[in-house]
Amino acid sequence: MRPLLALCVTVTGAAALQVPLLPSTSQMPVQSASERKPLIDSSALQDLISGDRLMARAKEMFEIAKLGEDEYNHPTRVIGSLGHLGTLSYIYETILQLGDYYTISNQSFPAVSGNIFESRLVLGNEVPKSAVPMGLTPATKDKQPVHGDLILVDNDGCSPSDYPFKVSGNIALIRRGDCAFGTKSRLAGKAGAVAAVVYNYEKDSVQGTLGNPSPFHVATFGLSGEEAQTIIKKLKNKESVDAIAYIDAEVKSILTVNIIAQTTEGDPDNCVMLGGHSDSVAEGPGINDDGSGTMSLLEVATQLTKFTVHNCVRFAWWAGEEEGLLGSDYYVYNLPPEENQKIRLFMDYDMMASPNFAYQVYNATNEANPAGSEELRNLYVKWYEERGLNYTFIPFDGRSDYDGFIRNGIPGGGIATGAEGIKTKKEEKMFGGKAGEWYDPCYHQLCDNVGNVNETAWVVNTKLIAHSVATYARSFEDFPRRMSVATSVAYREQTKYHGPRLFN
Ligand SMILES: *[C@@H]1O[C@H](CO)[C@@H](O)[C@H](O)[C@H]1NC(C)=O
Ligand SMILES: *[C@@H]1O[C@H](CO)[C@@H](O)[C@H](O)[C@H]1NC(C)=O
Ligand SMILES: *[C@@H]1O[C@H](CO)[C@@H](O)[C@H](O)[C@H]1NC(C)=O
Ligand SMILES: *[C@@H]1O[C@H](CO)[C@@H](O)[C@H](O)[C@H]1NC(C)=O
Ligand SMILES: [Zn+2]
Repeated sequence: MRPLLALCVTVTGAAALQVPLLPSTSQMPVQSASERKPLIDSSALQDLISGDRLMARAKEMFEIAKLGEDEYNHPTRVIGSLGHLGTLSYIYETILQLGDYYTISNQSFPAVSGNIFESRLVLGNEVPKSAVPMGLTPATKDKQPVHGDLILVDNDGCSPSDYPFKVSGNIALIRRGDCAFGTKSRLAGKAGAVAAVVYNYEKDSVQGTLGNPSPFHVATFGLSGEEAQTIIKKLKNKESVDAIAYIDAEVKSILTVNIIAQTTEGDPDNCVMLGGHSDSVAEGPGINDDGSGTMSLLEVATQLTKFTVHNCVRFAWWAGEEEGLLGSDYYVYNLPPEENQKIRLFMDYDMMASPNFAYQVYNATNEANPAGSEELRNLYVKWYEERGLNYTFIPFDGRSDYDGFIRNGIPGGGIATGAEGIKTKKEEKMFGGKAGEWYDPCYHQLCDNVGNVNETAWVVNTKLIAHSVATYARSFEDFPRRMSVATSVAYREQTKYHGPRLFN
């Protein structure tokens, strides 16, 4: 268990850099060796990707997640946990071992992290099955149940005038749509509501987040459109419905860290950038989400040191993705304009090994996204096609760390293998696995452990990551020049997510 011991030292003290590092076969002599190294070549880099090495890392990552057990009673790598600090040390030390091939930097940033311990919603005599507290919701007053009449808010509850006076001291019922959930919760709070319920305009439930905390936020639930119907009918008939809401939750503010590693070689004005997220949700160890992407990047970064590059390669391990893309947003929104222009494209690698996988390519077109996104999309497509593998296009709608890049004019895209979506019959024929079940049946759960990765899919996708890095590290020939930093309106309009949860 040497890695774990080393990690314990690292997380508890500043002794990180004194931990003796075992020589590794993948480690290359770096000084003045560059003349002897070959120029990066895609198939040579792909050949160095091995399932054994990835699976060995997965086992280490699970041991690291166990560091979170004391505080959370189960393995986790959620930001603020020892499991996440251990992950950060593991990433940092892995890159450090590669000598001066990379320059590593830590970017510390403030993050909010929410924990929901218990919740209950009663509407009239019913306990709606679909009621779920929104992410980053505050607790109800004094962490006790609150009650009042359910008051239907006008329109979409996006303007203070939508809130009738009688909302004060009662529970607001608000339709989903038009503005962020956080805005609705804040306006409900300002109108004096003791809690709020946002119901869906579609028949499903609403798994949303309030986003950045506001002192006016009130305890807020999401409710399915289906379960809301009978209640709304009663309210519209002027019948009263009393409600009880209870949430025990906390929202903490902490500092966490993005780790960035950039090749010392290669044109620093023309960088290919790629990222995965280092954190998991609180509910589990996150070996597929996004241990898989994190480890794919570490393997590609390790094997890349055997080559020289023409263009700079910049790896990022983002923190706070699960709380709403906090790390990648912080990074991109704080880039000076001249630094923004040096990033030719950003490639997102989140969930590379779902057990019931599909090979999914983000449908990032140049029509809706910065020019170059479509060239990247087509690179993935061509690679799968050349290997006789099937793939599907999936929406490019803000669910992972590419979002900040696209909004700031940087072309982007990526691949994934599926989260809580359901595999279709057609996809069962295309990829194997089981139709009617989630792509990742352990998505955001305790069972996202070492057994929750499909090694075949993981190796295939890590080779594709290697191909994407090799291609652009070698040349940006045929890749569009960078344009302005303006936000694409078309992208904004098709985006409902900001990270894993809906925000409006
Ligand atoms: C950067 O962060 C890593 C992981 O937390 C830590 O081990 C390392 O000491 C930090 N390095 C610096 C220079 O702060
Ligand atoms: C991909 O996106 C474009 C618009 O940007 C759209 O026209 C096309 O139908 C999408 N393809 C799929 C398969 O979703
Ligand atoms: C691709 O999908 C087709 C069905 O659409 C299937 O017949 C074929 O076996 C699949 N190819 C692979 C490599 O799985
Ligand atoms: C990975 O998926 C393939 C295709 O569905 C399947 O044949 C294989 O058994 C899976 N491997 C693991 C380790 O789950
Ligand atoms: Zn993820």
